[in-house]
Amino acid sequence: MGEDVAALELTDVTSGYGSTTVLRDVSLRVPTGSVVALLGANGAGKTTLLRTAVGLNPVSHGRVEVFGTDITPESPPRRARRGVCLIPEGRAVFKSMSVWENLALQVRRGDATQAVEKATEAFPVLGRRLGQTAGSLSGGEQQMLALARAYTTDPRIVLVDEPSLGLAPQVVETVFGFLERLAARGAALLVVDQFIGQVLDLADHAYVLAHGELTFAGTPAQLRSGDVFEKYLG
Ligand SMILES: Nc1ncnc2c1ncn2[C@@H]1O[C@H](COP(=O)(O)OP(=O)(O)OP(=O)(O)O)[C@@H](O)[C@H]1O
Ligand SMILES: [Mg+2]
Repeated sequence: MGEDVAALELTDVTSGYGSTTVLRDVSLRVPTGSVVALLGANGAGKTTLLRTAVGLNPVSHGRVEVFGTDITPESPPRRARRGVCLIPEGRAVFKSMSVWENLALQVRRGDATQAVEKATEAFPVLGRRLGQTAGSLSGGEQQMLALARAYTTDPRIVLVDEPSLGLAPQVVETVFGFLERLAARGAALLVVDQFIGQVLDLADHAYVLAHGELTFAGTPAQLRSGDVFEKYLG
């Protein structure tokens, strides 16, 4: 850590919704090339933190930096152009559009074919469903389509919110395998997921949020050891 520039860094961030404060003085680092797990109970503020990082929730205090640049005042599209990508909870796809159209939408200009190739390389099942509407895909296939965006656009920082929610165990394996490949390609990841064991297996660092404040920051091994885990997540 130390002198290295982080891919994403939140410093003393306070944010929320309108006049409702959710996060209080949260400082979190996602080092370049690393996977960071963000854990915490329901309502702790995990989704709010991811949304704040991509600019969907306003920061009332503190700052957000991407590769050392203060991006706190920037809009979500501007942050996206810097390579910051949020895969939100709940299979965010355009249900009435075909799989091909969903993938083609992700490329700003030019090569839709290439985007489709990348996506189907990541998830072969999508290659067999290109003409089908996204809404007619299974839940797992819809989540794969949503995740494919993190592959086709080559983001440098990917924030993933509950990618395995409601999926069968086999599909959960596929999702975690995908996240592992994404990290191996060099993307920095910040991952929220209910399968704590699997996220910690993947992660280099872990944070725990409780009531909008960080209660743990350290390695997965430290988090797993003894009372820390019991105290915050047991
Ligand atoms: N649009 C909103 N307006 C006001 N408060 C909100 C809004 N969305 C979420 N909150 C509140 O912010 C707090 C944190 O919610 P958040 O969704 O960030 O939690 P979470 O850790 O992602 O929980 P979960 O594990 O259930 O997804 C909760 O108390 C929630 O009620
Ligand atoms: Mg959430």
